[in-house]
Amino acid sequence: MSKQKVLHLVEEKQLHSDIYTDPKVFEQEMATLFHNAWIYVGHESQVPNTGDYISTRIGNSPVLLVRDAQQNIHVLMNRCAHKGARLVNETKGNLGKMVRCPYHAWTYRLDGSLLSIPMKREYEGTGFETCPAAAGLSTAGDVAIYRGFVFARLSPEGVGFYEYFGDVLQALDAMADSSPVGELEVAGGSIRSRMKCNWKFYLENVNDTVHPISTHESAYHSAEKAAERFEGLDPLSLEQLLPFGSNYDFYSTMGVKTFRNGHSILGTNFSIHTGYADVEGYKDAIRQAHGKERATEVLNFTPQNVIFYPSMAAKGSPQIIRVLRPVSVDETLLEVWVFQPKGASEKLLQRGLNYSRLVYSPMSVVAHDDIHLFESQQRNLQADGNKWINLYRQFDEKELEKEVNEFENANNELVIRNQYRAWKNLMQEN
Ligand code: FES
Ligand SMILES: [Fe+2]
Repeated sequence: MSKQKVLHLVEEKQLHSDIYTDPKVFEQEMATLFHNAWIYVGHESQVPNTGDYISTRIGNSPVLLVRDAQQNIHVLMNRCAHKGARLVNETKGNLGKMVRCPYHAWTYRLDGSLLSIPMKREYEGTGFETCPAAAGLSTAGDVAIYRGFVFARLSPEGVGFYEYFGDVLQALDAMADSSPVGELEVAGGSIRSRMKCNWKFYLENVNDTVHPISTHESAYHSAEKAAERFEGLDPLSLEQLLPFGSNYDFYSTMGVKTFRNGHSILGTNFSIHTGYADVEGYKDAIRQAHGKERATEVLNFTPQNVIFYPSMAAKGSPQIIRVLRPVSVDETLLEVWVFQPKGASEKLLQRGLNYSRLVYSPMSVVAHDDIHLFESQQRNLQADGNKWINLYRQFDEKELEKEVNEFENANNELVIRNQYRAWKNLMQEN
């Protein structure tokens, strides 16, 4: 499918179903959108020591996030410069001082440069030193670390990190400042789910305020009934599950901000997380550490979801991020990471872990409600019938004139339309 044809699949308020089902569209997304955008790789607390690494993917490129002896962080291709073999197969570990390819034993330093190759003498006089392989491992085009969050752009050229994310970075500031020392650390591993659906269904749903009351009806009804019937139920689980029953009116005043490049903050006024019980001593610790004014900003920042388009959705409280790794046109890997704000009460971590188990784990009473619907969309949109996905709710021509839109009513589908404005722009870049 030509690029022009692909761009015509996305209109201002409706989307052609081919964007979710056509493998050629997916190929172009990987070659263009995921090549040009800033993608979340990992958190620096996952590689605290020299030689530590995690392996993951940016689009369909396998990458390693590595810390070297100078404490610099590198994003290297997990692909040997000799013949392309995968260097590392584990998801995390320590490389020691170098990484050695399991195929023909070429070795690389922690910054990706070539350290040694067997029978080096046999390359003398061949011009090897000027060939691409001699430069060592390919690296990401650019890397940025913001409050410990590591992002990379595959393309060596393109829009800079700060320009790409703009003011949405304030959400990472607030999340990091939920620690008295301003630092987060990944707590343990992640919950990973493979979903048989296109990545965009998930990212839209993160901003879909109209679905919880119907999609998650069984989850909050069960919680309500259990609360009536049994005394002494875990109050933490109840306070996390019951808000899934919030009605349309609740979302109509929660406040939303949408940004250029598809980013958004859903819940600038409040969200389903705002009513959580105080953790003893926590607010005082934040006030003491950051001063009253900043503490008020941090403590009042409880968005439902902040999108760092196209790869990450963060919450503020609980301290959780979700990361989308597209696998193919109809398969997506979801990672859920919980953070502990360093120096804060362990209860914050427990809150994050509890939410993660309740809402995202294989034993969740919430996640399956969504995923089974995304998977049904993936199947049904390939069948006959209306080929267009409808995003007309509260459409207003004026929204197209502005790069940043701020409004009260989160039921406005602009919060989803905004993702597709970005999709179209990013798909046009080379
Ligand atoms: S493919 Fe890695 S050393 Fe040959
Ligand atoms: Fe949901």
